[in-house]
Amino acid sequence: MSFDYKIADITLAEAGRHQIRLAEHEMPGLMSLRAEFGEAQPLKGARIAGSLHMTVQTAVLIETLVALGAEVRWASCNIFSTQDEAAAAVVVGNGTVDSPAGVPVFAWKGESLEEYWWTADQILSWPGAAENPELGPNMILDDGGDATMLVHKGVEFEAAGGVPSDAEDDSEEWRIFLHRLRESRAVDAQKWTKIAAQIQGVTEETTTGVHRLYQLAEQGKLLFPAINVNDSVTKSKFDNKYGIRHSLPDGINRATDVLIGGKVAVVCGYGDVGKGAAEALRGQGARVIVTEIDPICALQAAMDGYQVAKLDSVIAEGDIFITTTGNKDVIMAEQMLAMKNKAIVGNIGHFDNEIDMAGLGRVNGVQKIEIKPQVHEWVFDAGQDDERSIIVLSEGRLLNLGNATGHPSFVMSNSFANQTIAQIELYTKRDQDEYEKQVYVLPKILDEKVARLHLDALGVELSELTKEQAEYLDVDVAGPYKAEQYRY
Ligand code: NAI
Repeated sequence: MSFDYKIADITLAEAGRHQIRLAEHEMPGLMSLRAEFGEAQPLKGARIAGSLHMTVQTAVLIETLVALGAEVRWASCNIFSTQDEAAAAVVVGNGTVDSPAGVPVFAWKGESLEEYWWTADQILSWPGAAENPELGPNMILDDGGDATMLVHKGVEFEAAGGVPSDAEDDSEEWRIFLHRLRESRAVDAQKWTKIAAQIQGVTEETTTGVHRLYQLAEQGKLLFPAINVNDSVTKSKFDNKYGIRHSLPDGINRATDVLIGGKVAVVCGYGDVGKGAAEALRGQGARVIVTEIDPICALQAAMDGYQVAKLDSVIAEGDIFITTTGNKDVIMAEQMLAMKNKAIVGNIGHFDNEIDMAGLGRVNGVQKIEIKPQVHEWVFDAGQDDERSIIVLSEGRLLNLGNATGHPSFVMSNSFANQTIAQIELYTKRDQDEYEKQVYVLPKILDEKVARLHLDALGVELSELTKEQAEYLDVDVAGPYKAEQYRY
């Protein structure tokens, strides 16, 4: 069997396979779904274009989708997040390095932005689909919404008669994106319209991607149904919080090996990710200061015992600054200039626009020194008496995946069990008019099921309602146990 793929080094497959084997042990949710649905093959006929960090845990997700009958093409949703050995193992599958028999992956650690958008195009461009669109993808599994945006912008420009030419105030990233759309339509000027017509739905992993989906739906522009996986309780209240609690210090440690204890750490944003970040840094002995714009989250941070301040009030105090907001322009260049010598600055939100990297690059006389890949020292006033520098992690992109290997398997098993169930839900109900071009969350009973799949592995003994207690609470003995508005 031969297929196209592009990864860093296929000979890393054996190393990747060992890690995947160990990850499977830590991913009981995905492994039970394989056992439950393997025979029924609910994803038979599904052709999934996946755009999500190509890590060891994602390898277990990909192989679960395949075990349930799907065909898959995969790219990473970030230029730094691929684990090259995981990508190699997925490509090789149960074949050999010389004759791979796995899944076409287009991902490697350290892609350029041009390469990044090329890989996104590759997962949506299936063999034979140029001649017969029915051979193209019919499902998207997205993280951050870039694959979904590629399809939507492609369709929008095709309806308007073509991709616009670059405007003077376009950012470099936008120009690269437009260039990719122009290139991709060279063979077929209706390429994206045809692809969109085949897509039955998208399942979206993260807060930022979900935000983009709701915007499209509100404008009446969403082209297919979407399931918001992020807001399953067993996703955002676990991965975003406990996952970050593990992978944020991991990223800081691997990047800098600076002792966190005793330092002042400033966490921008106290949503799910911010809560995990602040707890992790406090757990290491840092004095944590939180910044927030939402009074509810600010009050939560205060009651959790953190100082809450404006960034400018504490800019000269912090040793470590972490953005977790999913917003743009959170730490600006002039604020980085006001930081302590050797302050560490990193982002763990989805996109790199939380930290003003462009402004940093424009600071008069600034020098950028690569300490090692994804760790850069930015030196201000080099050679002067007041020379000082800051350390920026992963060039402002999410540092837990750029400097470390992202969240550990057990928490990702929760997230990816939701992803798998959401793919089954949208794909198997594609002809039932149950899902409109809107954004849905999974029913609570399935959320509870994902949690249940992870209890045994932790030795959790779950209490059971009696029939009388269930009647008293007005719930079913088998769940769901909470009303929709319950917030956990
Ligand atoms: P959230 O919406 O729960 O939290 C974000 C918080 O930031 C909110 O409380 C908001 O009020 C606050 N905020 C917004 N603008 C601010 C500003 N200028 N200054 C201070 N605070 C501000 O979102 P969540 O789930 O915590 O996700 C945050 C980001 O992290 C998203 O981009 C999400 O996609 C990403 N994410 C990254 C992960 C990773 O592995 N690195 C994992 C999960 C999510």
